[in-house]
Amino acid sequence: MSVRTIIEPFRIKSVEPLRQTTVEERERYLEQAGYNLFLIDAAHILIDLLTDSGTSAMSTGQWAAVMRGDESYAGSESFFRLKRVADELTGLRHMIPTHQGRAAERILFSVMCKPGHVVPSNTHFDTTRANIEFTGARAVDLPIPEAADTQARLDFKGNMDVAALEALIAAEGAALIPLAMLTVTNNSGGGQPVSMANIAAVKAVCARHGIPLYLDACRFAENAWFIREREAGYAGCSPKQIAQKMFSYADGCTFSAKKDAFANIGGFLCTNDGRVFQQETNLLILTEGFPTYGGLAGRDLEAIAQGLREAVSHEYLRYRIRSTAYLGEALEGLGIPVVVPIGGHAVYIDAGALLPQVPALEYPGQALAVALYEAGGVRSCEIGSVMFGRQPDGTEKAAAMELVRLAVPRRTYTQSHIDYVIEVCGTVAARAGQLRGMKIVSEPAHLRHFTARFQRLG
Ligand code: F0G
Repeated sequence: MSVRTIIEPFRIKSVEPLRQTTVEERERYLEQAGYNLFLIDAAHILIDLLTDSGTSAMSTGQWAAVMRGDESYAGSESFFRLKRVADELTGLRHMIPTHQGRAAERILFSVMCKPGHVVPSNTHFDTTRANIEFTGARAVDLPIPEAADTQARLDFKGNMDVAALEALIAAEGAALIPLAMLTVTNNSGGGQPVSMANIAAVKAVCARHGIPLYLDACRFAENAWFIREREAGYAGCSPKQIAQKMFSYADGCTFSAKKDAFANIGGFLCTNDGRVFQQETNLLILTEGFPTYGGLAGRDLEAIAQGLREAVSHEYLRYRIRSTAYLGEALEGLGIPVVVPIGGHAVYIDAGALLPQVPALEYPGQALAVALYEAGGVRSCEIGSVMFGRQPDGTEKAAAMELVRLAVPRRTYTQSHIDYVIEVCGTVAARAGQLRGMKIVSEPAHLRHFTARFQRLG
């Protein structure tokens, strides 16, 4: 008989103390921060679920690799070690390191996009969209229709609507579409996976029209695990083999190493196109650095190389995806409305459904995130009308959904930390009917979710 309990596949060698605060202290911190959780000192957070990006725990293997970092300006051995790992995984011809994902995006779109161009994706992440729009091109999201229904239980809710892609190409003309993208897993759509069949179908349409397909590959390993679990024909494959097959359909990729590769900083940009690579290299030198370090230290390149090896470990991915589901299923069990199925890196609470008494433009997501911090020092992130409500023309419009994201850093928190989060969520949900909305009192910057200050209503 085999033991069925899925455990953290690591033991802990170095610990970072957590600092407890009282409810009274947290009320004061909230007031000082204008009820914006981005403006609270991290020292005053107990469990930080703001993001899974750059917040993961590195392994002994990664820390050992850090010491091996070759800090040569040109021709660093660390670059070649990273390149070997990336080449083996992606099979893509050219790779340049960048300091994080959005730096890769900026270089890619600066080279490939012009005003009038259109770039389709299942769903663009917000920095991806912003970098496309900065070139004057248009970013278009083509998720499958079911993605908008938080309660639709589909195995691959991150898929692109292939018919919509065909229609877009017919309407715009392939000449105006310099590339198409697939975000794996689909972060903005709830961390939902994309199936291999969908990647293949999107590639076939793109190939027919001579449009290169790029993966936004931040969470490629988590996506590979979902394919192994849910798609016929992959149960016998290793996550690495599945990832290699995913990349085999791509003509290039952007990658933030701050997610699946467990690095605290870093990323890269790959392409099969030699001419594009040359132009990208020129831009890289201008703002990031020489092509063998691209804005990173040699030790960072080493941490990413080792992290990529660990990211496709069977034991690790089984634990990772299960531990996110553990949190999500427990919240469901408490009757808290969450986006289903549970995604790879985060659980999304439907704050609009939990706080029906709070209108969208009184920010139910913000009210809930603030309540979770106040009750238990847990930091989450509003993904709703605070983040998306301000329109380019200055008016305000409710977002499609009012969500709160509990993003789970990799290998950082244990099951009892998560049990604590579940209890805090349960306590807040039990008095959800008493929660009131918020009003924005100042909004100094364009990306207001980082800087706005709020007041509590009523
Ligand atoms: N693409 C996706 C799908 C992302 O989730 C992110 C970052 C990026 C690109 C940009 O990468 O941060 O290294 O520049 N997502 C983080 C998050 C910030 O919290 O989801 P980056």
